[in-house]
Amino acid sequence: MSVVELCREDEIAVVLVDNPPVNALKHEVRVGLTDAFSQARDDSAVAAIVLACAGRTFIAGADITEFDKLPKAPHLSEVIALMESIGKPIVAAIHGTALGGGFEIALGCHFRVAAPGARVGLPEIKLGLLPGAGGTQRLPRLIGVEKALPMILSGDPIPAKEALQYGAVDAILEGELAPAAVDFARRIVKEKWPLRRVRDMDEKLEAMRRNPGKFDELAATLSKRTRGLHAPAAAIEAVRWSLDVPFDDAEKRVRSAFQELRQGDQSKAQRYVFFAEREAAKIADVPPGVRPREIARAAVIGAGTMGGGIAMCFANAGIPVTLVETGQEALHRGLDIIARNYRNTVKRGGLAGDEMERRLARIQGVTDFAPVGEADIVIEAVFEEMDLKRRIFGDLDRIAKPDAVLASNTSYLDIDEIGASTQRPQAVVGMHFFSPANVMRLLEVVRGEKTAPETLATAMAVGRRIGKVPVVVGVCHGFVGNRMLRARGIEAERMLLEGALPQDVDGAIVEFGFPMGPFAMGDLAGLDVSWRMRKAQGLTAEIADRLCEAGRFGQKTSKGFYRYEAGSRTPRPDPEVEALIAEASARHGIARREIDKQEILERLIFPMINEGARILEEGIAARPSDIDVIWVYGYGWPVWRGGPMYYADRLGLATIREKLAEIAARSKDERLEPAALVTRLAAEGRGFGSLAEAARAGR
Ligand code: CAA
Repeated sequence: MSVVELCREDEIAVVLVDNPPVNALKHEVRVGLTDAFSQARDDSAVAAIVLACAGRTFIAGADITEFDKLPKAPHLSEVIALMESIGKPIVAAIHGTALGGGFEIALGCHFRVAAPGARVGLPEIKLGLLPGAGGTQRLPRLIGVEKALPMILSGDPIPAKEALQYGAVDAILEGELAPAAVDFARRIVKEKWPLRRVRDMDEKLEAMRRNPGKFDELAATLSKRTRGLHAPAAAIEAVRWSLDVPFDDAEKRVRSAFQELRQGDQSKAQRYVFFAEREAAKIADVPPGVRPREIARAAVIGAGTMGGGIAMCFANAGIPVTLVETGQEALHRGLDIIARNYRNTVKRGGLAGDEMERRLARIQGVTDFAPVGEADIVIEAVFEEMDLKRRIFGDLDRIAKPDAVLASNTSYLDIDEIGASTQRPQAVVGMHFFSPANVMRLLEVVRGEKTAPETLATAMAVGRRIGKVPVVVGVCHGFVGNRMLRARGIEAERMLLEGALPQDVDGAIVEFGFPMGPFAMGDLAGLDVSWRMRKAQGLTAEIADRLCEAGRFGQKTSKGFYRYEAGSRTPRPDPEVEALIAEASARHGIARREIDKQEILERLIFPMINEGARILEEGIAARPSDIDVIWVYGYGWPVWRGGPMYYADRLGLATIREKLAEIAARSKDERLEPAALVTRLAAEGRGFGSLAEAARAGR
């Protein structure tokens, strides 16, 4: 069976793309489209053409795996140019998602119709690219720059209804799409609608052409969160060409900008993350026959910050959720915060008022445990105290449905011990959300020793359903993310004692691409939280402990590693802290020295990589790319640097091994000695990535 079929229904030709799973535009598809459209053009019995797709979606874009190879003709823009030149109307019939090159093909058609649930968008920016086949030129012509630029820079698709309002699609058709699209094409022929080539449209650009300052304003607003990234600036330039460069010249320029980005390190890293995210969904030892359970109702125990955020995730995904607190007052406080969060989103224009009401209505607050018995999944999100958790799981064991999933949101406690407080440890799993839980995409799914495959599969599936990126991790203190974070934190503290200041350390890592550094992050999270945890484990952190003893808990007390002015979250260096640090250095007899940025970066990042290697040795993470996904989605690792393990491979493990040995010697910390895995791979001239390749080959 060919990936592109051409058939006829009277005078209407139907070009059908069938390249599962997402009809990506691999070379054979481009060839198939060229042949099919050429035939339809040359067939005098054909009056109009419908482009439709088989399976779950319209064309979801270029085949991303081809971006690592040499481009092969026909290029997508040539296919689109051919389609546009055919003097017969072409109707794109869009169901599922028309993304990237898929949407660009649709923009090359003369008309677009969509199924009610369809979405269209240009997500190239998320891969470190710009739309390379006319999207930057046609979309502004079709819907105006004001609408097109945000779509191109966010990469987020819009639903069919919005696309219709914008004029990106011409009609939403109910019922089976392909026959409805054929009828639509018949109407075009019968009523002799004029052919509309998007490239010839101009009206929607006129206002912006007269007022180019408006373009700059819009571009400046939209590029606020793009620090460090190359693609957004290139995309803005390309959209600007739609205003002042003839179409064909602009296309040529776009093509070369696209090639430059495609070959650049940023896009390579972002493509790696795209596939790493999908790989993380695969659990090697869960048999293919294992099906996730149906989740119709959830319950969350604890209406604090985490519990409230988790409840919102379920409500947002349309799943009714019971939120349990011990007292009315705490419950009301929790529900009020949820309502306030939603109101703020509505105020910012991110949510319609009626949708907010629907979501709020899905959250039922209660102060007794009984309603938990109706839930298919229960997530405990109370204080990090083992005794308390054991008690709660004991209660859940008695009350919960026999086949309910019992999850804990613990960020470091032992899931096996929690599971042992029930008669059904096979139903117990960790679901570690990240704060704010309703925003952060990462979900560490902690697999206990006795967690059943079905429980694990359900936690992963429900995670995806509520919009998270779930990654399976094993049981150890802090799991993957926090365990590596701790390795970074220890070395960060040491550098303070040796001569750096919080702003030096934070500055270096922010320049690297993180949104904030370890000390500003500590202030934001509350220094008392980690202080309490350290005390429970008999650990210390000299500077952080002293700050806490002085009542400096971070932003909540306006003082921590930094000082904060009333109503501001901007960290400001504080001479009091500097004095406290200098005093600590003197007490230890350390002569303070200047630590340069390079050293700061190596001492923050290499210990994390080393801990990551140990995590792999211990099987706590299944693959290096899982660790990368965790750091990109949970800790602000710059996506264009691919994640710590990917970054390590780019630098070369021999370098990492050498530097680690130096850091270990200087810090007199054997934990920093290169992990056996680092040493072995470095000696073999391999990287972490080769482990994944070997695993895939054996699959
Ligand atoms: N190329 C190659 N493989 C792709 C792909 C693509 N564009 N899109 C998805 N896949 C693969 C995935 O890797 C996955 O493979 P495995 O099953 O082996 O892991 C499989 O298709 C299914 O994908 P998902 O698990 O993501 O399925 P989903 O139903 O959850 O989501 C989707 C479907 C919304 C289309 C999502 O896959 C997606 O967002 N894809 C990427 C879309 C995209 O970025 N398109 C633009 C490409 S760049 C471009 O088009 C530039 C240009 O100028 C031509």
